[in-house]
Amino acid sequence: MTRPLAIAPSILASDFSKLGQEVRDVVEAGADWIHLDVMDGHFVPNITFGPDVIAKLRPHTDKIFDTHLMIEPCDPYLEAFAKAGSDIITVHAEASTHLDRSLQAIRALGKKAGVSLNPATPENVLEYVLDRLDLILVMTVNPGFGGQKFIEAMVDKTRRIKAMIGDRPIDLEIDGGVTPETAPLVAEAGANVLVAGSAVFKGGTVESYAANIAAIRKSAEQV
Ligand code: DX5
Ligand code: ZN
Repeated sequence: MTRPLAIAPSILASDFSKLGQEVRDVVEAGADWIHLDVMDGHFVPNITFGPDVIAKLRPHTDKIFDTHLMIEPCDPYLEAFAKAGSDIITVHAEASTHLDRSLQAIRALGKKAGVSLNPATPENVLEYVLDRLDLILVMTVNPGFGGQKFIEAMVDKTRRIKAMIGDRPIDLEIDGGVTPETAPLVAEAGANVLVAGSAVFKGGTVESYAANIAAIRKSAEQV
């Protein structure tokens, strides 16, 4: 069963002084989802934004809000990110001591539940939570910053996770260093959601965003 390909621009690479406009522009340019990178300066060495910013962005589009929490702890904040208008809430396996409980909490809030794995984290942490998952996010860079180099060893990991998923209705998402060059590697390995920050927002205009998204989509669809 193939799940539809989705391109999810990360607004981390956008101009934070005009976030609402950037979201509207990237949607006009063909984004399928909006990827929201939440960083706490503790789990990752960078700080971005929280639920209040997401709530303010919510009226700008009805596209899926894909919230990637790089925060530790995450449980105390899940309700706030749900109320802010996230459609999917993804927590890091490394940031949740009681991952099974965190995933149950996300679904109890009426949201789709995701787990993200850092590059060094083996996929076996997913084994006993597969039936609680709507999405698995494979980090192909170490989280914290945009514009880093894609880690090639994650292609095999993606392939192994795809096999673990089997025919479950779980999206397999890639985040970090996605470009028209790397997109086909992970698409071929079974990924169907591609996050891209710098590769989408380079150029700074709707026209360039559209060309950038189209280039990633085309190369991913070629496999
Ligand atoms: C990194 C974030 C990514 C980041 C990707 O910690 O999770 O979503 O924005 O940026 P690029 O596409 O530039 O690698
Ligand atoms: Zn992300």
